[in-house]
Amino acid sequence: MARSEILVPPSGDEASGAADLAADASADAEELLSADRLPSEHQGEAGLRPSSLEEFVGQSELKGHLEVMLRAARKRREPVDHLLFAGPPGLGKTTLGHIVANELKAHLHSTSGPALERSGDLAAMLSKLESGDVLFIDEIHRLPRPVEEVLYSAMEDFRIDIVLGKGPAARSIPLDLAPFTLVGATTRTGLITGPLRDRFGLVSRLDFYTVDDLVLIVDRTAQIFDVEIDSGGAVEIAKRARGTPRIANRLLRQVRDFADVHRDGRVDSGVAADGLAFFGVDDLGLDRASRAVLEALCAKFAGGPAGLSTLAIAVSEPTETVEDVYEPYLIQRGLLMRTPRGRVATSAAWQHLGLDAPSPTPDSEPGLFD
Ligand SMILES: Nc1ncnc2c1ncn2[C@@H]1O[C@H](COP(=O)(O)OP(=O)(O)OP(=O)(O)O)[C@@H](O)[C@H]1O
Ligand SMILES: [Mg+2]
Repeated sequence: MARSEILVPPSGDEASGAADLAADASADAEELLSADRLPSEHQGEAGLRPSSLEEFVGQSELKGHLEVMLRAARKRREPVDHLLFAGPPGLGKTTLGHIVANELKAHLHSTSGPALERSGDLAAMLSKLESGDVLFIDEIHRLPRPVEEVLYSAMEDFRIDIVLGKGPAARSIPLDLAPFTLVGATTRTGLITGPLRDRFGLVSRLDFYTVDDLVLIVDRTAQIFDVEIDSGGAVEIAKRARGTPRIANRLLRQVRDFADVHRDGRVDSGVAADGLAFFGVDDLGLDRASRAVLEALCAKFAGGPAGLSTLAIAVSEPTETVEDVYEPYLIQRGLLMRTPRGRVATSAAWQHLGLDAPSPTPDSEPGLFD
């Protein structure tokens, strides 16, 4: 296969793509139900991350595959095949990256697609790896193409070519890398190119969590936070967490605040329901923005079909936000359908909004994220 060539950046030219985090600590109702990590949660999340596969709740099929791969690799004393975790935000992709490194007792090196601006940035990262290390690349779909091409030979042959100098005097020096495991994470599988995808030994999609699994996650987090919560309270939070552990943990934090200030600190189903209503979370776990998408579809477009971009304009949001952030959960709850002719509200959507549906409406049909 063709080997990739790398230009080494001038010394001192460090990768500088780290996201600039706004320092907004307050979560309003919309932020409360966003699956994306809020700036204020940067610290807290690390403490909540399960550190072993055993502690990782749910995703049983994925866990089964991973367990076999990790065991086999340990037995053979070889690095695990490269792994790609895909799925909506907050479902545990980064957590799994950490778990893989922990389980292998390997060093974890973390970076992200946007941080690797030039091939030299990646070369610098790769050359630091020691045998068996895990390289975690978040948002791997955002790697610039020339950088991605370098990754091909690194993943396949554990070698890259470094080009020194320019023009006719340029020399290409092959660099052997220590065998390593790449763990990629992406919220956009559709944007992963074929050649990159083909180089992963496991491509796994994380599903939204069931209420039962989210109850286990809420209980686990409550223990870490030292919150007294009964099973009714945990169910109430889990039901509105939109299938997402990050949201479940965040709702628990809010309910804990509510219970501390307005009640005696203990959380049962009544306290949880009151606390969640207080913070503006509706009983299906929809925030204002998701409701606005549904309302626009029903009220402005008679339930659809409406094109994605038309719908996005109607709610003044970027199309990607509507598609990646709001729609997956609406589809999962059977409130919205993606059809070849556009987005369509289901009868459950009309019912949830308390509006009269024009007859006939399509039946609610659970769909898949993508
Ligand atoms: N299966 C799980 N069991 C317990 N806790 C979980 C699980 N999955 C995720 N979490 C918790 O949810 C939080 C978010 O998980 P994580 O950061 O791994 O999500 P992500 O998929 O990487 O999200 P993003 O796409 O935004 O990067 C973590 O703090 C972790 O504690
Ligand atoms: Mg992540």
